[in-house]
Amino acid sequence: MSLRKRGKTYVGLCPFHAEKTPSFTVSDDRQAFYCFGCGVGGSVFDFLMRVRNLTFAEAAKELADRYGIHLPEAPETPVQKRARELADLLCEVNEAAAAYFHRVLLEDPAAGPARDYLRRRDMGPEIIREFRLGYAPARWDGCRRQLLGKRISLQVAVQAGLLAQKTEGEVYDRFRNRLMFPIRDLAGRVVGFGGRALDETLPKYLNSPESPVFHKGRILYGLPVAREACRKEGEVLVVEGYFDLLALHGRGIRHVVAPLGTALTVQHVRLLARLAPRAVVVFDGDEAGMRAALRSLELFLREKLPARLLKLPDGMDPDDFVGQRGKDAFLQLLAEARPLFEVFLEESLVDYDGSIAGKVRSVRKVAPFLKLVDSRVEQESYLQLLTRRLGVSEEVLRQELGLVGAPETEWGRRHAEKRDDTRVPAMEEVVARILIHYPSGIPLLAEAGILDEFEGQEWRELGRLLEKHYRTGGILDLGGLLVELTSEDLRRRVSSWSLEENPWSEENASLRLREYIEGIKGRKGRRLDDLRRLQHEIRIAEEKRDEARLGELLARKAALVARRVRGKANLTKGEME
Ligand code: GTP
Ligand code: MN
Repeated sequence: MSLRKRGKTYVGLCPFHAEKTPSFTVSDDRQAFYCFGCGVGGSVFDFLMRVRNLTFAEAAKELADRYGIHLPEAPETPVQKRARELADLLCEVNEAAAAYFHRVLLEDPAAGPARDYLRRRDMGPEIIREFRLGYAPARWDGCRRQLLGKRISLQVAVQAGLLAQKTEGEVYDRFRNRLMFPIRDLAGRVVGFGGRALDETLPKYLNSPESPVFHKGRILYGLPVAREACRKEGEVLVVEGYFDLLALHGRGIRHVVAPLGTALTVQHVRLLARLAPRAVVVFDGDEAGMRAALRSLELFLREKLPARLLKLPDGMDPDDFVGQRGKDAFLQLLAEARPLFEVFLEESLVDYDGSIAGKVRSVRKVAPFLKLVDSRVEQESYLQLLTRRLGVSEEVLRQELGLVGAPETEWGRRHAEKRDDTRVPAMEEVVARILIHYPSGIPLLAEAGILDEFEGQEWRELGRLLEKHYRTGGILDLGGLLVELTSEDLRRRVSSWSLEENPWSEENASLRLREYIEGIKGRKGRRLDDLRRLQHEIRIAEEKRDEARLGELLARKAALVARRVRGKANLTKGEME
């Protein structure tokens, strides 16, 4: 990658999206980068994490190695040490078992039918080697004897789920007569297995049980191999099954991962976001596949990972599809895949009957999701789609959206606190942005207590860090701040401000800061008064049993509280009752 110097910064073509004119900007003295084209930015750590798909710890280690810095390691507590040692041990046992299953598959005469099966399913030797596929023989003591021979503690093997234990304490192989898929984490360690039955035994697929290193809700199949490919493609595909993934690999489509027979979880989606900036869920075109895909919509919206839906013909999985129609037909469908949200909107309107009740139902159904759509432009285009389909004015739609302010969806209710923090509080944004350009304002706001008054946990952290990294003489150690800031979203914002052209004159900036100092003192008090007054009127309406009035007051209260949820007022729960 090459950068040209332009003024105080360096610019070049962004490595994270395709562009012809350079928007990728790096600043030496600010120790930050930002792409004005695709909005990726942050510290040097963020850069490495993204460009090489590293974890923060890996990026830190790499930089430390490169510059010969000794990273102070936080001393491990005895509990942490024991946990880490157990995890290492479990992965070692799994590794030994994977090697054994693989060897059996390749060499053991008893594995003949398994090899035939793989051949029938079109799995060549490269795939078998790359994914270290294996075969667990149809006996009770294959794996057990192997591990004993390697002096591996059977107790650990039981904990790894390779062996099962009878009540009398006797142990035996859990996986028998199964095709074995070792499951690796991002670092490449074998954390568990999936095993497909080769006869009619149920379950068809058997997974390792949950263990300290294996959590089905946090791991995806294919991670270490997909990592590199996802970086190249800038996209990650999610399929349902092991064979689907392997079939795509066999045809050179390698930016694919698969959950292990469970619905996608928020941890899965976070993992996906680490692999690539966009996702495509590939699901069977049948009802169940569709439902599963739409269930994941909320997770994608919350994690702000743009997702599309690739719908296969009814009853076909990706393995069937590429087998019958070939790679190009699949790539064609991929090119045509539509945003998950768009598909969701249309599905939601399928049984819209034109009635008023139907309108209300439809709007209520999509409103909580529509509000999660991050981009204004996208939100606007979906609003227009709804307007057209329902024949409701955009005005009414907006109103409805504004009214349904409280968290509405199941997930939302459970994560109401977190949701609070994902909103961007307008004032905080302006203040932080001004302070990045005029760090000399920091002491002023710190003294007024404003910086720890920021709404939302993430913004509060930013406030604290602004104060912490302020150096006398009006200097801000932005590099230090970025490294400590935990919110990726805020790191991105801060980097972009640090590299943008300063939008404020000095007078303007100080005027805005003063307004803010005055404003924050007033605003908490005001909202509290409004709520108290409403609460009082509600009590009166209740006593009078004035249902109409009561309904109206409750709606107003809901709207007020909703504004609080959006991070505009900082009322404690007690103050709200
Ligand atoms: P094949 O018949 O081998 O092609 O499997 P498939 O992937 O076409 O089958 P299916 O659509 O039934 O399963 C998709 C994925 O769900 C599998 O790859 C497994 O990860 C998971 N799965 C399917 N059946 C079971 C089961 O009985 N138990 C568990 N734990 N997972 C299953
Ligand atoms: Mn299949």
